[in-house]
Amino acid sequence: GLKKKEVNVLCLGLDNSGKTTIINQLKPTNQSLFGPLSDDWKHVSQVKTQTQDIVPTIGFNIEKFKSSSLSFTVFDMSGQSRYRNLWEHYYKESHAIIFVIDSGDKLRMVVAKEELDTLLNHQDIRSRRLPVLFFANKSDLREAMSLVKVSQLLCLENIKDKPWHICASNAVKGEGLQEGVDWLQDHIK
Ligand code: GTP
Ligand code: MG
Repeated sequence: GLKKKEVNVLCLGLDNSGKTTIINQLKPTNQSLFGPLSDDWKHVSQVKTQTQDIVPTIGFNIEKFKSSSLSFTVFDMSGQSRYRNLWEHYYKESHAIIFVIDSGDKLRMVVAKEELDTLLNHQDIRSRRLPVLFFANKSDLREAMSLVKVSQLLCLENIKDKPWHICASNAVKGEGLQEGVDWLQDHIK
């Protein structure tokens, strides 16, 4: 068949926001050889990912997964402050960014915004129309802020020079992730 176009995606956001959990849900261990698992088998993959121990990322991990038309190589970066200086080394070769926010972490929303602003103002990002997908993750938490609230606190409406999109997600259950990947696929050039 046709070879899928290869794209690099950078997965960013503060530590503990859920980046690795999201990428893990999208990885082929959770897809059958013939594509995403049918609903009949979803519960099996969920049990499996829930019992997999996801530990804080050290440095970064490289993961691969496919959508219907693209072959993604994801740089799953550590969000810990001591590793955030690694992020910028991968900006140039990235075709899109996934930025993950912990919707329940009100205290660190300003830190997330600072990191986002630094990213968007970086010389290797500023002038490019690369798509930015936001996951307002952990939407299952009782204290989770709404999608609208998260968008306001991050001032997303100020992003005028790039296509962007925000989805609410629950990475533990895999909810909201497909909508995001579909949007990315449609906006990556
Ligand atoms: P670093 O690698 O340190 O940057 O963190 P990370 O962004 O990769 O976070 P990780 O995926 O390791 O998840 C951190 C914790 O949040 C884990 O205990 C996850 O199980 C939990 N978590 C991730 N997504 C969700 C979610 O949607 N809801 C809830 N309730 N917990 C989540
Ligand atoms: Mg991680």
